[in-house]
Amino acid sequence: MKKAGKILAVITGIVLAFLLYVQLTYQQTYEVPVTGLKASTDLTIIARGKYLAMGPAHCWTCHVEDPSSVDLIKETPAMSGGLLLDLPWIATLRTPNITSDKKTGIGRYSDDQLAQVIRYNRTPKGHALVPFMTYNAMSDADIVAILSYLRSTKPIEKAIPEHNFTMLGKLLMRFVIKPDVTETHQQFAALKPDTTAGYGKYLAYTVTNCNGCHTERGPAGEFVGEPFAGGHKRELQTGTFVVPNLTPDPQTGRIYHWNQQTFINRFRMGKVYQEDFMPWRAYQQMNDNDLKAIYNFLQTLKPVTNKIEQTYIPLAEN
Ligand code: HEC
Ligand code: HEC
Repeated sequence: MKKAGKILAVITGIVLAFLLYVQLTYQQTYEVPVTGLKASTDLTIIARGKYLAMGPAHCWTCHVEDPSSVDLIKETPAMSGGLLLDLPWIATLRTPNITSDKKTGIGRYSDDQLAQVIRYNRTPKGHALVPFMTYNAMSDADIVAILSYLRSTKPIEKAIPEHNFTMLGKLLMRFVIKPDVTETHQQFAALKPDTTAGYGKYLAYTVTNCNGCHTERGPAGEFVGEPFAGGHKRELQTGTFVVPNLTPDPQTGRIYHWNQQTFINRFRMGKVYQEDFMPWRAYQQMNDNDLKAIYNFLQTLKPVTNKIEQTYIPLAEN
């Protein structure tokens, strides 16, 4: 008995020491490449950045406190942050203020620090970001446009509280989550906005992140499904959403019978279901050419048979 007690004490000691170690070291600092990108004051470039932030790249849908109260037709929302994101068992956090404010917003950071946030998911302090943003392959030109727009925004002073990680969250931050330093952007360096499938691919994978929801993922967030074949399910308060199959499969592809104009019209219509988490209202701002490009890209995908009966099942029918 005595011996068992000692062993138990030693194990408890080791576990506690380990937890203390994680507590003290979960905020690692990382080096990432210097981007050398610089914000511009050119009005065309600023306008391009605004278009990206409000439309395809949908920055505002996360960087305002209450996205549902935003009316894009009447106003351009100030991205002063504060949206509560609850990751059960892992963390609760509020999104940062990315207005140009010098005390509480991005006015504190250099152009390069900001570009590193967008490209490599590393905070200006050097920590890994909780990976909500997926802009690793964004071209230099588009990152410059976004930086230029952020610099031009009206400063709003609003301090955002620190993130709250659980012990599991701290373990993940210490050992699993790292900045993404893969260099995937060069392939898009020469790309100019047009209606080709090539540009549509860039939009769908990088800027709009259609891929992030329309390709099935495994438990750790890794992509496991065929690209754009849908299937991801999410239960919310009012019902269950099932992400549709966007591949050109004659039987099960959701948009197989849609022509380009049907596709554009669907995006102009915007959100239909109250709780829908697809950022329809941002995508509604996309211009026809961008939507044509995405449509053209989707047509080039390998058709995959994956039958999704209903994309929204209201609770009453569950
Ligand atoms: C899906 C939600 C989401 C979208 C879309 C999004 N962000 Fe973020 N962003 C976050 C979260 C969450 C954080 C904080 C993560 C952390 O600190 O670990 C963050 C952090 C940042 C930061 C770091 C600020 C700081 O003070 O640390 C910047 C800058 C930023 N985002 C800019 C952008 C821009 C520009 C866009 C659009 C191109 C964008 N974000 C789109 C969720 C999002
Ligand atoms: C954050 C998750 C998410 C992202 C990102 C996303 N979608 Fe969806 N999408 C959904 C969900 C959920 C549905 C099912 C509910 C609905 O119809 O809105 C859906 C439905 C659709 C539909 C079918 C609409 C209908 O009326 O049947 C199309 C088409 C579509 N998405 C295209 C896209 C494209 C193109 C992109 C990128 C520009 C994209 N989605 C990005 C989650 C997402």
